[in-house]
Amino acid sequence: MGQVISVIERPVTAKGLRKEAFPNEKRVRKYIFDEEYASLGLLSSLVPFSHRQATLLYPGCGSDILFPLFYLDRLFPQVENVHYIFIDIQPCLGLIKTILDDVGVSFKEKKNSIDFYWKGKLIQVDFIRQDVFSALPTLPEFDIYFERAFRIMKDSCAQYEPFIISKLKKNGVLISDSGFSQFPLERLPVDQRLGAYGEMIIGKKK
Ligand SMILES: C[S@@+](CC[C@H](N)C(=O)[O-])C[C@H]1O[C@@H](n2cnc3c(N)ncnc32)[C@H](O)[C@@H]1O
Repeated sequence: MGQVISVIERPVTAKGLRKEAFPNEKRVRKYIFDEEYASLGLLSSLVPFSHRQATLLYPGCGSDILFPLFYLDRLFPQVENVHYIFIDIQPCLGLIKTILDDVGVSFKEKKNSIDFYWKGKLIQVDFIRQDVFSALPTLPEFDIYFERAFRIMKDSCAQYEPFIISKLKKNGVLISDSGFSQFPLERLPVDQRLGAYGEMIIGKKK
């Protein structure tokens, strides 16, 4: 029978920061399709980046807290501290907290922000509930851009991709499963099985 992944939001108590609490791999696996998990192994053939600190922007994040972490594990092994800016029109932070709690990651919270350790790295998430296209002029610069399953949404905004590239810092890294093919990025030779559309791109801004 096919694999089904469902998440039901429940009230979760913030238990505070615990650097030593690593995620429970078995429970993490329940949140990812077997095929997708296997394809993440394809990232290990790529030369990793050397960032130690980074700001990561993820528009249209939904409740997907885990995928950017999987990429962080494999592509940014030296990173110690990451500021995530998650943007979505839906209120997704409750689901994100439920998922973290399910996989055994303890966090501290403040309004629309949560901080937690992921395998010893400090992750600080600011969740912004907003239409990313209207938020474009107010976006800060970032070191990593992460996008997944947002192709249809950005189709309606021709300025979106050029704007994202302009806000990506020099030597910043773009990770997207669609678009951005026309920009002069230093592209890594990624296997197209990593993305659903056959357009997967991982590139560094020169
Ligand atoms: C197909 S889901 C992908 C979610 C997540 N990236 C993933 O891979 O699981 C698209 C997400 O984009 C969000 N979204 C749609 N239009 C948006 C907009 N204009 N600004 C920000 N988020 C938007 C939706 O609420 C939804 O969470």
